[in-house]
Amino acid sequence: MNITIIGTGYVGLVTGACLADIGNNVFCLDVDAGKIATLNAGGIPIYEPGLEAVVESNVAARRLSFSTDIEASVAFGDIQFIGVGTPPDEDGSADLQYVLAAARNIGRYMNGFKVVVDKSTVPVGTADKVTAVIQEELDRRGRSDLRFSVVSNPEFLKEGAAVEDFMRPDRIVIGYSDDDNGREALAWMRRLYAPFNRNHERTRVMDVRSAEFTKYAANAMLATRISFMNELANLADQVGADIEAVRQGIGSDPRIGYSFLYAGTGYGGSCFPKDIQALTRTARDNGKALRVLEAVEAVNDDQKSVLTNKVLARFGTDLAGRTFALWGLAFKPNTDDMREAPSRVVLDVLLRAGARVVAHDPIAIEETRRVLKLDFADAPALLDNVRFVSAKDPMEALAGADALIIVTEWKAYRSPNLERLKALMKTPVVFDGRNLYEPGTMKEAGIVYQGIGRNSQ
Ligand code: NAI
Repeated sequence: MNITIIGTGYVGLVTGACLADIGNNVFCLDVDAGKIATLNAGGIPIYEPGLEAVVESNVAARRLSFSTDIEASVAFGDIQFIGVGTPPDEDGSADLQYVLAAARNIGRYMNGFKVVVDKSTVPVGTADKVTAVIQEELDRRGRSDLRFSVVSNPEFLKEGAAVEDFMRPDRIVIGYSDDDNGREALAWMRRLYAPFNRNHERTRVMDVRSAEFTKYAANAMLATRISFMNELANLADQVGADIEAVRQGIGSDPRIGYSFLYAGTGYGGSCFPKDIQALTRTARDNGKALRVLEAVEAVNDDQKSVLTNKVLARFGTDLAGRTFALWGLAFKPNTDDMREAPSRVVLDVLLRAGARVVAHDPIAIEETRRVLKLDFADAPALLDNVRFVSAKDPMEALAGADALIIVTEWKAYRSPNLERLKALMKTPVVFDGRNLYEPGTMKEAGIVYQGIGRNSQ
């Protein structure tokens, strides 16, 4: 099949590369000329395990290409995926300007039947807006004879495991309109995804609005589990219980399960924060309040300060003359994505309180430099107080530190040499935002250890 992907970011590039890998011809479009130039020069603009090899082999096989040429891209694909960003607007609702701009381009240049796929995460009712914009352009061109149908096919991949998730999906959600064009579009989608359904059927077919809703409901459920556990962890700290023991105690109940039960520094990334905001906004716009979800968001906002509150409680609010080692910058392991990363809150509080920070991350240092310029646009001189150590050795960050703060659970941090850690630091204090170590082991090693909800003062 001939497929066009509009928007070659995390989702667009992974979708394009993986669909090419199963034998389709894929044309990836982006308005960011720099990104397309990087891809055409053999580079990958993001870090995502396994992606480079899939892109490379499919470009070599001439099944995958990248372009900024809108007209040629729209002409190419029978199926047009819209995978552009849907960032939060000022009021928290999803900003649809990029989605609707992509739709307008499809209407402007399409020349035959098109299956238009909303792959971006978009609020309920967006497919109707996309349909209206395309129809408006066709009417303007006097080409109302051209047929199309908009399908909702939300993406559930996880950054850090995106290629694996796309190739082995838990489910493929397809929302379609039950009319002639819609049924034809559904048939195209079933053919496209047939290779993923060989062993058992993973496709869930439903109406468009339910499909749009499903994506938000999934992220809302996961975010709820995280905030719920974070709130319990904070209480565990107060009452002298260990949240890790509690997690295992409840996770063993199959009705609860172990996934997404880890207490930490709050959820971040490009999806949960904005999707939770957008869903609560949709509810408000419909005269309803999603009270549980509003609490989930409020708890998460507070949780991002849980580490720095512990630091300030121990060292006081004036951190001038103090040096902190920071392990982990990316919002989660195996990505360089810094969108809404909790490390940004930690850096903000520490630097503005006068501290020096020596930071380590295996992948995200370049991206951190870029976002810190934005975060500290009002006080760029503070960035002189951040130093990054070589990606190879996290221990390098520890020399002379008053404390180590762990924000992201990269594998490289799992079993440090505690003797060396203690010898390198000025004072052996560890604030662990990911509960990587056993409090008893740390105590034995003579290290002051504070996790999240671990009864470990
Ligand atoms: P991204 O920001 O990495 O990529 C979006 C790309 O679209 C950018 O390269 C941008 O230049 C391009 N673009 C914007 N307007 C365009 C236009 N009119 N024509 C062509 N290209 C255009 O965003 P990301 O992370 O890939 O997210 C895309 C959508 O997928 C969002 O709605 C997001 O919520 C959703 N999603 C993201 C996941 C993730 O893990 N990043 C997972 C599941 C869904």
